[in-house]
Amino acid sequence: MYKRTNNCGELRSSDLNNTVVLNGWINKVRLHGQVVFVDLRDRYGKTQIVFDADEYKGDFEKIKKLSMEDVLSIRGVVRARVESAKNPNLATGQIEVLVSKYLMLNESAPLPFMLNDRQNAEEDLRLKYRYLELRMEELQHNLLIRHNTYQATRSYLSENNFVEVETPILMKSTPEGARDYLVPSRVHQGKFYALPQSPQIYKQILMISGYDKYFQIVKCFRDEDLRADRQPEFTQIDIEISFVDEEDIFGYMEGLTKHIFKVVSQLDLPDSFPRLTYKEAMESYGSDKPDLRYDLKLVDVQEFTNISEFNAFSSVERVKGLVVKGGVKYSRKVIDELTELVKKYKAKGLAWMKLNDNGFEGGISKFFSTDLQKKMKNALEMEYGDILFIIGDESKIVLNALGQLRKEIANKEGLINKNDFSPVWITEFPMFEYDDEHKRYIAMHHPFTAPKIDDINLLDSNPLETLSRGYDLTMNGYEIAGGSIRIHSPEVQEKVFLLLGLSKKESIEKFGFLVEALSYGAPPHGGIAFGFDRLVMLLAGTDNIRDVIAFPKTTSAASLMDESPSSVSSTQLNELGIRIKKQ
Ligand code: AMO
Repeated sequence: MYKRTNNCGELRSSDLNNTVVLNGWINKVRLHGQVVFVDLRDRYGKTQIVFDADEYKGDFEKIKKLSMEDVLSIRGVVRARVESAKNPNLATGQIEVLVSKYLMLNESAPLPFMLNDRQNAEEDLRLKYRYLELRMEELQHNLLIRHNTYQATRSYLSENNFVEVETPILMKSTPEGARDYLVPSRVHQGKFYALPQSPQIYKQILMISGYDKYFQIVKCFRDEDLRADRQPEFTQIDIEISFVDEEDIFGYMEGLTKHIFKVVSQLDLPDSFPRLTYKEAMESYGSDKPDLRYDLKLVDVQEFTNISEFNAFSSVERVKGLVVKGGVKYSRKVIDELTELVKKYKAKGLAWMKLNDNGFEGGISKFFSTDLQKKMKNALEMEYGDILFIIGDESKIVLNALGQLRKEIANKEGLINKNDFSPVWITEFPMFEYDDEHKRYIAMHHPFTAPKIDDINLLDSNPLETLSRGYDLTMNGYEIAGGSIRIHSPEVQEKVFLLLGLSKKESIEKFGFLVEALSYGAPPHGGIAFGFDRLVMLLAGTDNIRDVIAFPKTTSAASLMDESPSSVSSTQLNELGIRIKKQ
């Protein structure tokens, strides 16, 4: 191999006539009779190199056989491209290198897919050959954004006195929401470690130990259903601080988020982020992670439907609607498609009426008197040309289905500016939700979240009405961080465990060490964790979490490249004292 003098992205007109050595991959080959043009590529860019039969002394037939992704080392002289071949869109587009010597460092086998046409290859194939896909500019760019995000995070937090501490990956299985990944112990047969769903308990214990401000960029593991923004192993920026309330946490985290966006993407986020309570977010946007890049709020229509002659809504819990500007253009077919969409979210149907010059028309408009129609038009500030969609059902279904409809309409109507970033804090989550299937309360955030001070008595009288000191930071429809002020009193912590259906014995077995630790002078404390991959997704402008992770898993939690999970030998199983049940 010749020792490289330059990378493939840095030669310019100022290098004319220099003798240079480049090493890289063949990105493209073009044969022009006795001249062969090759784009040589590395992480830094592409440079056009030229083999000219008149100048090149070696075997020219071999040059003609060069192919994509072969690895070359070339020596040559930098020269100006002819005027017509200059490429203003490429940093090295003014020059080319006339090759005098080359070495084939490694020939590539025929490629399973074209590396310049990512979207045309099946994702499974790209994941199997992830090392090839990772050569593509788009993914290299994303991983650089990821790298810059790590650096920006560390520098901001370190400058603000946070201490980075690593916590164990092999830990005790403690239920936190999702299913645990378990690791069998060889030494203690029949016992298991769990991989952390998050370092939640360790970071609280670090506060009890007096570390005051902790952070860690850390892998977390959750065996849960996967989606476009979820992976079974993902990364968090995990943070905990002592002697703080919500305002302190918001201040630090707004500072961190602004710093990251500025350093990584040169973007200015607002000075302080807007806030919505959970209730406001659900009522206005039908989501606890509303995309505020566009307005489009849900509207209350129950007072009108109640006095209309449309009976289907007369006995339902909630009726809400969504006004779409210019929606009279929606055809029957479009409305049917939107109806199918809301049905996926358990709505029974989608009622509608269009406001034309002559008043409301179509859909369920005939059940509303002229007078009522007038009142509705004014109250909902509707204009001619608008359509009103209405859903009536249980509250949960109405809000969720309309929230999904809101997103669909925003996409359809092009209301989203992809270059906008709209952070918003969501506060005042309920402490608990009721799990109908298992007939018990579950923690809306996690069991260590403190109730609002004024609501502490509701824990006994009305747990579902108790609000928590939990908060999420959301952006563009994603939950990018979640956290809370914690319980630091052993008594309140025990009470919450009881409400969550853990008997005293069970809570001692699972969390006894934490409750005990709380009794040795625990400072008031709180924290948060950012979904690092989701943050990078936003910075990279993608909506697929796999685009910002070097070696992601599929939605069925498999790694197609190294074929994990895989079977293990019977010797390994014997050592662990494990026998696989026949299916
Ligand atoms: P939470 O469970 O809300 O809080 O997680 C924090 C953030 O992590 C991201 N996230 C995920 N990202 C990718 N794939 C997943 N499967 C996944 N699950 C969660 C989200 C989320 O906002 N210990 C608490 C934090 C605390 O209270 O301080 C916790 O883990 O962006």
